Amino acid sequence: MTGKALYTGSFDPMTNGHLDIIRRASRMFDELTVGVIVNPSKNCLFTEQERVEMIKEVVKDLENVKVDTFKGLLADYVNSGGFDLVVRGLRATTDFEYEIQMAQMNARLFNDGVESVFLMTSPEYSFISSSMIKEVVSLHGDAEGLVPDVVLQRIIEKFKEN
Ligand code: COA
Repeated sequence: MTGKALYTGSFDPMTNGHLDIIRRASRMFDELTVGVIVNPSKNCLFTEQERVEMIKEVVKDLENVKVDTFKGLLADYVNSGGFDLVVRGLRATTDFEYEIQMAQMNARLFNDGVESVFLMTSPEYSFISSSMIKEVVSLHGDAEGLVPDVVLQRIIEKFKEN
């Protein structure tokens, strides 16, 4: 399959669920950009720069994957960046309700021919969310195997700092 694809989210922080989608999408499309949203109203644990650094470190072996940031309307970024596809991961039926609304709204806003494409999360990661990981680590629980090792270290350090 060809095309310039975008995988977007807050990535606060990136989990192995996100990484699973990135790896699989990078095999399907010519080029994949991981677009980190800079959303001042979301109270993130990690700064924009920290989130980008962690993703870059984790995806450095994937030659066709780039990391970028964006602000504002997703469709503006997609249209101005010349993307052909926006990839989203679906973890459970609960994600579906939200994703279909967003995809249908975006279909009105995206340039003609731009599609939203959905990949089912691998079952071993279907229960993971960034918030749950942060809660477990903050309470000294074991999150090994659920986030990349480098990310786990950064979360542990962050909670020591705070
Ligand atoms: N594996 C693990 N976790 C996953 C996952 C996966 N495959 N897919 C999603 N998640 C989790 C995230 O970790 C996150 O968890 P958290 O809530 O605990 O932090 C949660 O799902 C939500 O994902 P997130 O990346 O925070 O953002 P989102 O799903 O709300 O959407 C954008 C991100 C960028 C697509 C959306 O906010 C957006 O489009 N913003 C721009 C404004 C805009 O254009 N609005 C109109 C849209 S129609």
